[in-house]
Amino acid sequence: MPFQFKTRLLLNGLIGVLAMTVTGAAQTPIALAPMTLTAEQDHQNMMDQLGIKVLRDGPSGDEKAPNHANYDEALANPYPRLPDPLTMNDGTKVATAKQWWERRRPELAELLSKYVYGRVPRHVPKVTWTVTAVDHEMIGFTPVIAKDLIGQVDNAAYPAIDVRIHMTLVTPANAKGPVPVLMMFGRAGFPAPHEPSADELERINSAWKAVLAQQDSSLKEVFAQHPAWQPVKATPFQFPQMNEDGDLPNTWQLVAAGWGFVQFDPASVQADDGAGLTRGIIGLVNKGQPRTPEDWGALRAWAWGAGRGLDYLESDPSVDAKRVGIDGVSRYGKAALVTMAFDERFAMALVGSSGKGGATLLRRNFGEAVESLTGGEYYWMAGNFMKYGASEATFGSKTPEDIPVDSNALIALCAPRLTFISYGIPEKGDAKWLDHEGSFMATVDASRVFTLLGAKGLGVEGDNRTAKMPAVNQGLLDGQLAWRQHDGGHTDAPNMKWFIQWANKQWADRHGADHLNGQSLNGQSGAK
Ligand code: GCU
Repeated sequence: MPFQFKTRLLLNGLIGVLAMTVTGAAQTPIALAPMTLTAEQDHQNMMDQLGIKVLRDGPSGDEKAPNHANYDEALANPYPRLPDPLTMNDGTKVATAKQWWERRRPELAELLSKYVYGRVPRHVPKVTWTVTAVDHEMIGFTPVIAKDLIGQVDNAAYPAIDVRIHMTLVTPANAKGPVPVLMMFGRAGFPAPHEPSADELERINSAWKAVLAQQDSSLKEVFAQHPAWQPVKATPFQFPQMNEDGDLPNTWQLVAAGWGFVQFDPASVQADDGAGLTRGIIGLVNKGQPRTPEDWGALRAWAWGAGRGLDYLESDPSVDAKRVGIDGVSRYGKAALVTMAFDERFAMALVGSSGKGGATLLRRNFGEAVESLTGGEYYWMAGNFMKYGASEATFGSKTPEDIPVDSNALIALCAPRLTFISYGIPEKGDAKWLDHEGSFMATVDASRVFTLLGAKGLGVEGDNRTAKMPAVNQGLLDGQLAWRQHDGGHTDAPNMKWFIQWANKQWADRHGADHLNGQSLNGQSGAK
């Protein structure tokens, strides 16, 4: 640790504001305020811990910039040899499902934790969920019950940081039993707050007019001249915003299909920036101090939070906890894939436009690079990951080729559960930066693990180097691992109906058969 940083630590200790809580007459735990660093300072601190002097710069997303990202497919595979999810660390080939579950899967989870996403600390404090409000709402033509929830993280060990996880659970009101639920990373809150009735509005309006008239007595005359005018009016019916394919919004489709959904707020678990790493759940566990190299990054923290959300869902009788899925787009697509990979209770995932750190191969040089994830986006990952962007360090230098795992392993950890990899098209804004091709290559390679476990994979000819990416709108939806590039932009919305049908069909086909294989699945039928 350089002198400057040590001094800062010391100063923080000396002049830090003291946060106090009185938990009992005799006991007064005192917690120093969390350390305040800019993202640049925190990034530098991790470089210092790792002995890194210089990091290679990430490419620019602007194609006109001189240092723009590579979009030449001929240059996209500088490290064509992928670490094999089905070869153990000691070189033994994985030939049986038993070997996968007992040895290889734990090895891969360990490699991905240690070098890529960071570890969930052993003793993360307990989360206690409270339903803070229940509302009866309408989503489209479906009556729903919406519960707003707060998961309070026990902060007795460090009261200076308060983490309150926020999510909203919405289930169809007329469901006959527990329903499947798709948890979606995004803003939580009531989706369609129910308004007061006409009678109630009338009472609100006369009270409101009385208050206004009290404030300004001349208004009495105005009200008298316009007796029918009311300050508060019922919101007129609004047509929903259709997606690019003319479909209803995701939430409408889900409840109409008899599913529930959860809006899960990742920012309530961990901020989406480097300066936030000494706060949120990561900061709480570290008592306000910066991370060490194997500590979790924001993606793993968001995934952990989703798992705590699932803990609650397991206790809610309106939810079929064996059919809870996870969904997200872009950085939350990465988070959805990480959630699905590490928490085996999630039964399905819709991974939208996830790119680097998500479905695409870290070894690919196309669009966003490893150097992007070791630069400005470093806080999504473990500190350790920064080594792979280092050009000058006490350990020399490293490149993406040195990463002992890749995204094929991350997708493989989801096997044999229902995993749908989704993208849009660059023409509509799902940028080339995300590397659709590299994501397909990783999915193809991971498919072998689904097959090993008796599930059905993508079902394409060839391997990750030779298999042909299907045309836009042509889904590979016959197996437990699915792929579809829709013709919309940076969103999963045009794939939602495909996802719902595919998952429903998979569940229906499995019903009555306790094994995963032996079924002819045709996920394409039905939808347009
Ligand atoms: C950037 C970033 C991507 C990320 C995206 C987003 O483009 O490089 O990794 O997926 O933002 O989350 O919107």
